[in-house]
Amino acid sequence: MHRLSFLVLASAFSTKVLAALVHPRNLDLPASPPGWKSIICLEDNRAFGLPLFTGAFYADSALTIEKCIAFCDSQPVSYRYMGLTDGFECSCDNFFEYIFESVPGSCNTPCSGNPSEVGGCGGKADLQRLASPYQRINSTFVIPTMVSSVGLWNGLGCYNDSVSARALQVRVDAGQTTVESCVAACQTQGFSLAGVEFGRECWCGSQLQHGSKFFGNSDGIQDGRLRQTPNAPFCNMACQGNPSEICGGPALLNLYNFTGTYPIGASVVTTAGGWTSQGCYSDSVSSRTLERRVDVGSVTVESCVAACQSQSFTIAGLEYAQECWCGNEIKSPGVPISQSACHQVCIGDSTEVCGGPNALQLYR
Ligand SMILES: *[C@@H]1O[C@H](CO)[C@@H](O)[C@H](O)[C@H]1NC(C)=O
Ligand SMILES: *[C@@H]1O[C@H](CO)[C@@H](O)[C@H](O)[C@H]1NC(C)=O
Ligand SMILES: *[C@@H]1O[C@H](CO)[C@@H](O)[C@H](O)[C@H]1NC(C)=O
Repeated sequence: MHRLSFLVLASAFSTKVLAALVHPRNLDLPASPPGWKSIICLEDNRAFGLPLFTGAFYADSALTIEKCIAFCDSQPVSYRYMGLTDGFECSCDNFFEYIFESVPGSCNTPCSGNPSEVGGCGGKADLQRLASPYQRINSTFVIPTMVSSVGLWNGLGCYNDSVSARALQVRVDAGQTTVESCVAACQTQGFSLAGVEFGRECWCGSQLQHGSKFFGNSDGIQDGRLRQTPNAPFCNMACQGNPSEICGGPALLNLYNFTGTYPIGASVVTTAGGWTSQGCYSDSVSSRTLERRVDVGSVTVESCVAACQSQSFTIAGLEYAQECWCGNEIKSPGVPISQSACHQVCIGDSTEVCGGPNALQLYR
């Protein structure tokens, strides 16, 4: 009877989970550990792939609340929530991912490593597993938020990526990654798109590839606020170099778009080693204007024309900041195009222009 009344109460609460979390009712909440406050007992469907928290997870046959706090604290990402389930599972996140029902008062499974912490390590209601969530009450804790714009770069939100088919073409080293360090690295090379991913990766490109699409804005980071769309994972990882900024998520990019005009700080090299610039020519990935791509390491105009000369080619072309091409004739689709299409800066020398996407800075 007692249990039944809790479940009836629970379903009455189910549509009011948001309200319950913003203003938790004082229903048999377990004692809060130092630095954290307990919230409300919630369903956790990790067994069905729909966990309450997805940020970090570990299982421990001797779990205590203190060990779960230490685990969440030790992650590279700063988490504001942790959850304990079934007496032995610990997870951390900055969002509530999949919420089904709150079951106030039913988190009464003892922690496996300290049975006296009753009420702190989740529970069970019929076949449902329940989690005890806690929220950090640490005034120095930094909540990461999305940077909407930086300099000449405009934030476009969260876009999907995949390890096997990248949305942006080039991964660059942006040091201790922040949004600022990443867009600066991409700008140096004349790219029009920049993206931060997985808290620490910086990607640059000139167009989105492999069907990458808008995935949603980074939202729901307000205190106690829930994400309404249960799409885990999300762009919610703090940047390695600045925990107050969001740097994408797992296989998710926070994308930025360049709004300025290139090149910045670089110019077309008119002559190099006896070779003379012929202007900017079109190229395409499916049909090449120059026949041979050569590897010259850190690409500059000088290193490229020297490589083509040493292989007895008469035409050299630099493309996409980092490619060196050689040939003896200008094949289709190569025709002169506006110099503005050749706006990228050489990877090997930031004062030189090295073509653009599908655009060759040509030398003879
Ligand atoms: C507050 O949180 C930060 C980041 O997790 C941590 O480094 C710091 O030790 C915490 N301070 C207190 C007083 O708990
Ligand atoms: C992005 O997601 C769409 C489906 O919404 C998929 O077709 C596409 O391949 C994904 N792209 C990348 C780069 O992951
Ligand atoms: C970036 O901005 C330009 C113009 O400012 C726009 O034409 C282009 O579509 C934008 N790129 C993306 C991926 O939104």
